[in-house]
Amino acid sequence: MQINITKAQQLKPLPDDSGLGFGTLFTDYMLNMDYDPENRWHNPRIEPYGPIQMDPSTMVLHYGQAIFEGLKAFRTESGDIRLFRPKDNIRRFNTSARALCIPELDEQFVLKAIKKLIRLEQRWVPKAAGTSLYIRPTVIAMDPFLGVRASHTYRYFVILSPVGAYYAEGFNPVKIWVTRDHVRAVRGGLGEAKTPANYAASLYAGEEAHRNSYTQVLWLDGVEQKYIEEVGSMNIFFVIDDEIVTPALNGSILPGITRDSVIALGKAWNMRVSEKKIAIDEVMAAHENGKLQEIFGSGTAAVISPVGELKYGDKVIRIGNGGVGPVADKLFKAITDIQYGKSEDLFGWVEKI
Ligand code: COI
Repeated sequence: MQINITKAQQLKPLPDDSGLGFGTLFTDYMLNMDYDPENRWHNPRIEPYGPIQMDPSTMVLHYGQAIFEGLKAFRTESGDIRLFRPKDNIRRFNTSARALCIPELDEQFVLKAIKKLIRLEQRWVPKAAGTSLYIRPTVIAMDPFLGVRASHTYRYFVILSPVGAYYAEGFNPVKIWVTRDHVRAVRGGLGEAKTPANYAASLYAGEEAHRNSYTQVLWLDGVEQKYIEEVGSMNIFFVIDDEIVTPALNGSILPGITRDSVIALGKAWNMRVSEKKIAIDEVMAAHENGKLQEIFGSGTAAVISPVGELKYGDKVIRIGNGGVGPVADKLFKAITDIQYGKSEDLFGWVEKI
């Protein structure tokens, strides 16, 4: 399929790289593609960034049939631009598509189209330390219809946003609040798909955490509210007795690409790494016994986010010395060094555009 480009009349001025936040600025162009049962995915095109016109009855607005992804492009010191594990993102996009009854996309074509968009927008890939170009592929259900069923028509789009740190804390430790009143996802539900519903489900408890001066919520399983699942919008890791431990994927946990990178690096460093069911009580007990060394979240947006404090019921515990632990620090450096081309890409994670 040919990707047509419609040029913008005027290009936006570039922002100051050093003051970038997360997800507030958008580039000049976006990628669009449509689906209908007769033509399947068709009409891929790059057009000026702008509003999507839709009927008020458009299905995505009513029933949330949508999926998205998040990946990043990085500028190396020599000026090259690289994507981090884009094929894994695109594969997960299709896994989410299946969960939401959305027609899958051709993975090779999508990668080619995203690379074409980034090449056109390369001036937007920021240079300052810790910055990148965040890429947000999305599919939304487009039928103008109020009956509950899967839509017949869809829009795929990709928007780009130059970003700095995701949290105001940057790489400094965040405080997390364990909720027993709310769950993010349930067994047999949508938890492993990247779909807006999971983020909507996280808002109420997130607000409650904020009101209590906590940054993020630690999610327990939706059945017994006993086993740890995720933190905020990230996967979660513990260092207990020198072992890296993370909840095993169980259908309600997002299979994070940064999560997978942490596991691969931990193993490559000959550390003990295990993916298993882990109860909040075990974590509290490990803290009591002096064996809980670190807790951190992992995700594309923040990469690694150390946890300095955790509140569970009326217990508040300080993790390590409340600062950034050595494993979180080493992982953050190792992952970002690969992303920015400062160290060898031993795992084949980086893709030039
Ligand atoms: C990530 O960690 O990349 C996320 O999933 C957060 C994103 C929804 C902004």
